[in-house]
Amino acid sequence: MLLDYQKEDRVAIFTLNRPDALNAISRELYEELSAALIDFRDDDELLVGIITGAGNRAFSVGADIEGFLPLMKQSREQPWQEPPTIMRGMELTKPMIAAINGAALGGGLELALACDLRIASEKAIFGFPEVTLGIIPGWGGTQRLPRVITQAKASEMLLTGKPIGAGEAYRIGLINSVVPPGEVLVSAKKMARALCQPAPLAVRAAKQAIIQALNTPLAEGLAFEKSLNDFLTTTKDFDEGRNAHLEKRKPDFRMR
Ligand code: COA
Repeated sequence: MLLDYQKEDRVAIFTLNRPDALNAISRELYEELSAALIDFRDDDELLVGIITGAGNRAFSVGADIEGFLPLMKQSREQPWQEPPTIMRGMELTKPMIAAINGAALGGGLELALACDLRIASEKAIFGFPEVTLGIIPGWGGTQRLPRVITQAKASEMLLTGKPIGAGEAYRIGLINSVVPPGEVLVSAKKMARALCQPAPLAVRAAKQAIIQALNTPLAEGLAFEKSLNDFLTTTKDFDEGRNAHLEKRKPDFRMR
């Protein structure tokens, strides 16, 4: 297996497991990732996902240059049916955390950008080298990066192909936090446990609303936000959350 997929309580951990190839994403790894993400999406016991890379050098250095990139050329005559992932084709409302243990380049950075939160090692680097190979990012990099950081910085990264370090990535808002190399997964798990505490239906609605905010005019987004809250106020978890607050106890959310 090129992807190690584990379930720890209510958290799913996806580990790209090709450390000798710096966790480059081959077609097989892409397909395994898609299958695991579908399982995660459909498993009601699981609330939060963490994606990380095996080893201490790379989160992922992107598409496998030898095995995967030639598929792009073939795909005009012989289309490969790209299975859905969070990068493209899958709507996932459960929160995802990227635990960036090393280099996040090309498709690796695109995978991290498709997550909601990014925690990175002090030693991580981030970049889109695609233009140096004669292509551009193809798993959402050109679309998500300018939505996460400023257009000026996104253009600098996408047009030059030059990587940046973790300190700069934090300064420009590309990542949520920077931690010592050995603490990336531990910090991500801590964050995941924190995300398991609030009402899961509300957390998912908040994620949907954030995605909507990036994709629609304000008036439409405000209407969408209202429709989500109109639904949430009908849930038992809303009653439970309010009562627990008034009674000064821990809420027992049941996703109803
Ligand atoms: N696809 C497939 N294999 C890759 C890879 C990729 N994207 N990136 C690295 N590897 C492999 C190398 O071929 C090498 O394998 P080998 O030991 O069998 O020769 C191994 O990973 C280690 O890489 P190496 O280049 O020797 O390490 P380095 O420390 O000198 O350089 C990088 C690290 C990340 C700077 C360099 O590997 C690199 O530039 N990779 C390409 C990244 C890229 O362009 N990604 C976008 C693809 S669209």
